[in-house]
Amino acid sequence: MKVLIFPTKAEAIEKAGDLITEKIRSNPTCTLGLATGGTMEPLYARLRAKGESLDCSRVTTFNLDEYVGIGPSHPQSYHAYMRLQLFDHLNFDPSNTHIPIGDAPDLEQEADRYERAVQDSGGIDLQLLGIGANGHIGFNEPCSSLGSRTRLKTLTSATRDANARFFKDHEVVPRYAITMGIKTILDAKEVVVLATGSKKAKACREMIEGAVSSYWPASALQLHPKVTALLDEEAAADLELREYLETVHPAGRDVKVV
Ligand code: PGA
Repeated sequence: MKVLIFPTKAEAIEKAGDLITEKIRSNPTCTLGLATGGTMEPLYARLRAKGESLDCSRVTTFNLDEYVGIGPSHPQSYHAYMRLQLFDHLNFDPSNTHIPIGDAPDLEQEADRYERAVQDSGGIDLQLLGIGANGHIGFNEPCSSLGSRTRLKTLTSATRDANARFFKDHEVVPRYAITMGIKTILDAKEVVVLATGSKKAKACREMIEGAVSSYWPASALQLHPKVTALLDEEAAADLELREYLETVHPAGRDVKVV
């Protein structure tokens, strides 16, 4: 795993924006895996600011997950989030943007359909990930199978508590989600994880230095050959190898080995 530690959150976000922009410019028909959550908001703001200079008209996207029980027009759905944060501001073709349908009549069928759609697209070129304080990626909560595919998951109370800030009261926070599986994520050709803030420090330590274990789902990324983790100082605070990692990439920069 390539671990880049940045002095500030803004620099970590700038790097994530650069990686996505470079991917789209070098391969205008690429398939991106997209994430939601508070961490991604400033990143999507950076991409929005690129306006017409970033041609997304032939990009395909697959979001990681969606809450069960709320449909695409619900304001707290990830469909609404993506429209607000990104899709309505750049020239994405709506027929190429994919998010599971959280109020589908048959949720298991919807999860299977979504998994097939990811595979039929030819696979994800670059998967963007956040990380939960409990180490989840997508909504793959602790003890998710490392071989899992898109399916229904019950959210932990920690995740419901963390996401309650987006809902008007705790009672209405969804209890279930449809999420890409850990294996679905590991199938992406390249993964970029963005983690900022002290609440993510323990999860980042487990992702980078811990044993590979379904208890910390993000640790499964150690099995992937091309992962870049972008951390700010706070998210990197618990890393035992921090000094070494910062020597390899000072302030998040690539250093040429001569
Ligand atoms: P956050 O969520 O960016 O809102 O902290 C990240 C996640 O749960 O994956």
